[in-house]
Amino acid sequence: MSLLEEINSLILEAESSLSKCNSEEELDASKNLFVGKKGKLTQVLKGLAALSVEEKKTIGKVANEAQVRIESFLENRRAALKEEFYQIKLKEEFIDALRPVNGNERGTLHPITQIQYEIEDIFTSMGFSVMDGPEVETDENNFAALNFTEDHPARDMQDTFYTTDGNLLRTHTSAIQVRALRNLKPPFRIIAPGRVFRYEEVDASHENTFYQVEGMVVGENISIANLIYTMETLLSSVFRTSVKTRLRPGYFPFVEPGFELDIQCLVCEGKGCSVCKQSGWLELLPCGLIHPNVLSHAGHDPKKWTGFAFGLGLDRLVMMRYGINDIRYFQSGNLRFLNQF
Ligand code: DAH
Repeated sequence: MSLLEEINSLILEAESSLSKCNSEEELDASKNLFVGKKGKLTQVLKGLAALSVEEKKTIGKVANEAQVRIESFLENRRAALKEEFYQIKLKEEFIDALRPVNGNERGTLHPITQIQYEIEDIFTSMGFSVMDGPEVETDENNFAALNFTEDHPARDMQDTFYTTDGNLLRTHTSAIQVRALRNLKPPFRIIAPGRVFRYEEVDASHENTFYQVEGMVVGENISIANLIYTMETLLSSVFRTSVKTRLRPGYFPFVEPGFELDIQCLVCEGKGCSVCKQSGWLELLPCGLIHPNVLSHAGHDPKKWTGFAFGLGLDRLVMMRYGINDIRYFQSGNLRFLNQF
């Protein structure tokens, strides 16, 4: 066989060998076999030394082309293998994120979240915006700016979780009132839902972690009539029926006058049960007109601006709506309880 024929048959042999390779390792081995240091083509090229200058020129050129051709064939095969590899992976590892899951295993929103969203809808439809604030707060925002004196009992260690750096877990969403007053220009209407914390003994109607929605309206000539109207709109919308309410005077340092709005217990319809501590009534909603000190502390002239505020406990609201008699269910993580909503 002439050198030329040998080269041509090597090309064919190499291509047939490479096209049978199915892995990088096999490709590398095959490459070594033909164009490696001790490869077959390399060996052939060594034979060039014995040829005349003329022959070296022509055969050398053919041999170079052969090398280029084999190497490009090899690269193509390598690319094809890679592509194949990814196609297989794509098939094997495909996850259909849109495939419906087994109906029984679908989660639902927590009943407290559900009522929170409902309340947000009611208030946004009345022109309120929804505000947020952090769960770890400063004493200033949780107490001082809300007209709590230094020795107010609510600051007592028994009620409040303090952090080691001198801050606290907010005990009420009223802390967001302070942020609103500082950051917004009156007139404004906001609600602020959120999780709050108290250092409390836990029982059927007390939790150390619970949920509130704070509401606040600041404007000119805002009166108790505006407050009552807003609360009645809220309650009839939430309970989808008329509920019995009563208004009592209530004390909170950041409102003057302050009220307790009670509603008749929906669990026992006023007869008395563990939820309402046998009284037939539940404290549902403390509220009042914003104390002038709170407004002026935030830099607003209390002669020009007035407003009302209220704090709504979401846990109780849900308990009344569904006749739940123990607040501890909410944080229990009990799926049999949660799946009912
Ligand atoms: N922040 C009070 C609490 O958690 C509730 C409250 C009372 C909020 C009166 C108000 C209000 O906005 O006017 O005990």
